[in-house]
Amino acid sequence: MRTYLVTGGAGFIGSNYIHYMFEKYGEEIRIINVDKLTYAGNLENLKDVEGRENYTFVKADICDSEKINQIFAENDIDRVVHFAAESHVDRSIKNPTVFVETNVLGTLVMLNAAKAAWELPDGTYKEDKKFLHVSTDEVYGSLEEDGGYFYETTPYAPHSPYSASKASSDMLVKAYMDTYKFPANITNCSNNYGPYQFPEKLIPLIINNALHGKKLPVYGDGKNVRDWLYVMDHAKGIDMVQEKGRLFETYNIGGHNEKQNIQIIHIILDTLQEMLPEGDPRKELVSEKLITYVEDRKGHDRRYAIAPDKIKEEVGWYPETMFEDGIRLTIQWFFEHEDWMEHVTSGDYQKYYQEMYQDK
Ligand code: NAD
Ligand code: DAU
Repeated sequence: MRTYLVTGGAGFIGSNYIHYMFEKYGEEIRIINVDKLTYAGNLENLKDVEGRENYTFVKADICDSEKINQIFAENDIDRVVHFAAESHVDRSIKNPTVFVETNVLGTLVMLNAAKAAWELPDGTYKEDKKFLHVSTDEVYGSLEEDGGYFYETTPYAPHSPYSASKASSDMLVKAYMDTYKFPANITNCSNNYGPYQFPEKLIPLIINNALHGKKLPVYGDGKNVRDWLYVMDHAKGIDMVQEKGRLFETYNIGGHNEKQNIQIIHIILDTLQEMLPEGDPRKELVSEKLITYVEDRKGHDRRYAIAPDKIKEEVGWYPETMFEDGIRLTIQWFFEHEDWMEHVTSGDYQKYYQEMYQDK
């Protein structure tokens, strides 16, 4: 039985990945989920897997090398899938330090622990051990509105403290592959959306605010472009890279689905109107009048777009979910999980929301 160590599995993409893996492999695999449970980590995301015998949750900080080494010592780990990170650009602009601690130093701890556990005395590695570092397209910087794509060969040019910290972590993984022949891959992914996404990110924030008749904050002119990918397609891509990709390679994972932020907001409003049943009081609240242009994000990248050619050719992965379908699945999920939203929007997140948007 293969054992996976997933970091950050209580977050948005990590929890979707764990669901995907149990759905696909059932009892054939074991997953150990290591998560610090920051504001973004939520064990409610994993309620339906917590009773499984082949699933273990360990509350730990990836910066805690003693604890991470202990997990490797007590378990014969075959695969590491490293999601754990501080992930929100706006938070990184307010407080960069924790981004360097978790994203850079935490990744270093993970690399050292896996290397120590897997390396043989002659400098080679135990058979079939693999580390996958989950990264972002933001490391490549910003594209012009009228053309170009991010390729695996695009030079790194991060702008925000978040993307700079992710770029640094990628560089460390690359250094371990080059220097120690450490068995790893890096994936750089575009914007994900789907179930369990924390409502500080554009799509769940807009869905939640619209349903409550609250302002829909649009940064700058609303014409920044992101390349949206349904989270389950991403989960599948990660698994396919680990199984079919060439070791030491980077693979970009993108949705082939570029949209301006303002277009996303209009699609969400239209879809909500279409999906809410007649007589539902929220139908009255959902309105374009809620759209509010606010001060732009500092250093706001204009456009991200991935050409997922390499992963398609080498691994056979491509984005399967059309945005029109993915957004309906996402909205349906939020309709069916109002309690989830209520729980995450209380407490810490409420304070965060007031702080971030008080002047906007
Ligand atoms: P998220 O913020 O929803 O979840 C992050 C998880 O990591 C949380 O469960 C949190 O508790 C955990 N965590 C944070 N610091 C930790 C620490 N020090 N030790 C252990 N656990 C810790 O993030 P996400 O959106 O699911 O992103 C997951 C990964 O994918 C990140 O590495 C992110 O950079 C990358 N990524 C995200 C997107 C996206 O659109 N969301 C796109 C490309 C890449
Ligand atoms: O590209 C991949 C990245 O996508 C990931 O690496 C990050 O972890 C993830 O957070 C995401 O980063 P973005 O900054 O692109 O996502 P966010 O949802 O924060 O913003 C999407 C766009 O919407 C961006 O142009 C800013 C804008 N925006 C965002 C918020 C929260 C608004 O206009 N209003 C808002 O209230």
